[in-house]
Amino acid sequence: MEDKQSEPQGTLVIQTVAMPADTNANGDIFGGWLVSHMDMGAGFAGRRRAHSRVVTVAIDSLVFIRPVTVGDTVCCYANLVKVGRTSMQFKMEAWTLALQDEKPKKAAEGMFTFVAIDENGHPRPVDR
Ligand SMILES: CC(C)(COP(=O)(O)OP(=O)(O)OC[C@H]1O[C@@H](n2cnc3c(N)ncnc32)[C@H](O)[C@@H]1OP(=O)(O)O)[C@@H](O)C(=O)NCCC(=O)NCCS
Repeated sequence: MEDKQSEPQGTLVIQTVAMPADTNANGDIFGGWLVSHMDMGAGFAGRRRAHSRVVTVAIDSLVFIRPVTVGDTVCCYANLVKVGRTSMQFKMEAWTLALQDEKPKKAAEGMFTFVAIDENGHPRPVDR
């Protein structure tokens, strides 16, 4: 899949290296591993924005653009696109950089919606 965007958008929230233990049967990185990092990264950004615990309520429009390879550096970027009463929506992008490459490539993107919750797990308002 072609993607024309040349640079990541948003704040860097996760940076890690894809390891052999995270591969699928093709030898590439398992998609669920990547999604869990995007989710964690959006959770960090949500917690920081809401100043409270948050939970994922929805993941939409998730697209895997190119495979991630063992040894790639994987970076997740969070871009806050909407704040509701108790919810926040982040556009998340995952970019990879192979050792031999100079330019990162976008591997996946999607919309992650989080809800701020109180100590009982009930939605609580987010400052607008
Ligand atoms: C998230 C949760 C606390 C929301 O509770 P709820 O009683 O359904 O709350 P509400 O209906 O008042 O919705 C709260 C907010 O979430 C939004 N929301 C609910 N369902 C949504 C969905 N499918 N997509 C996008 N936003 C959604 C609502 O629009 C609302 O946003 P707003 O306050 O900004 O207008 C509850 O559904 C929950 O605990 N879900 C499980 C979360 C979880 O465990 N996530 C990790 C999965 S492993």
